[in-house]
Amino acid sequence: MTRIISIVSGKGGVGKTTLTINIGSALATEYKTDVTVVDCNISTSHLGLYLGMYYSPITINKVLTGEATIDESIYQHFTGMKIIPASLSLKDLSGVDVFGLKNAIKNLQGKTDIVLLDAAPGLGRETLSAIKASDEVLFVTTPFVPAIMDIIKMKRLVEEMDVKINGIVLNMVRKEKYEVTKDEVEKLTELPVISTIPEDRNVPKSLSAKAPIVVLYPNSPASIELKSLAAMLIGEYYEPKNILARFVEKFKFW
Ligand SMILES: Nc1ncnc2c1ncn2[C@@H]1O[C@H](COP(=O)(O)OP(=O)(O)O)[C@@H](O)[C@H]1O
Ligand SMILES: [Mg+2]
Repeated sequence: MTRIISIVSGKGGVGKTTLTINIGSALATEYKTDVTVVDCNISTSHLGLYLGMYYSPITINKVLTGEATIDESIYQHFTGMKIIPASLSLKDLSGVDVFGLKNAIKNLQGKTDIVLLDAAPGLGRETLSAIKASDEVLFVTTPFVPAIMDIIKMKRLVEEMDVKINGIVLNMVRKEKYEVTKDEVEKLTELPVISTIPEDRNVPKSLSAKAPIVVLYPNSPASIELKSLAAMLIGEYYEPKNILARFVEKFKFW
């Protein structure tokens, strides 16, 4: 049975694409899960850019215009995860029917274990089509009021759509006094915070290297949390390696 999980936020820039590629990579590398990540932020696509895929001949755009099948739009990443990118070209938006996403994604049923949908920000058509195409939603927010308020709105929408809410990922946490705490986020949203990911300078560093942080800096604080989150989503437990094992790993890497 294929699980389809969308990674959603109201506000942009909170970490949806970062989470999508890293949960995908962690599931593929640590848990040998067959995982497919799909760029559903079709008008302002970033997922391919985060992985160094600047041009892909067949994209989700072509699937949504009926010019290609979803199987033809799948690319293999070196981590083992499968990627369905969106086109970076403005002209490839013409004729795209985002509400065809649900039917397109349905064709992945039985062919992969987990599908992660990297949603567009906001409450527009692209976001709604990604939520409608999924069985489960994972919300992402930063520890600040505007992003949290947007989650409250999104929650109401998702509840009306009969899609399961897995909880909230609190991202880019610095543990500063001016941040909203995990308990406060839970009280405000009436949803569980299932993962807290620290702000980590290795996240933008890995973005500039076009590789997921869980692969490039596997023992960085954000990587450890991302791998724990990936494990939790499939009912596993991630055991961080001890200091000696981390040193040996780093030594081998260099
Ligand atoms: N835990 C983190 N620590 C530091 N920077 C982060 C973290 N998560 C995301 N970022 C950075 O924040 C920016 C926005 O992330 P992104 O995943 O593109 O957000 P979204 O997809 O929600 O728009 C990127 O530059 C990314 O590198
Ligand atoms: Mg994004």
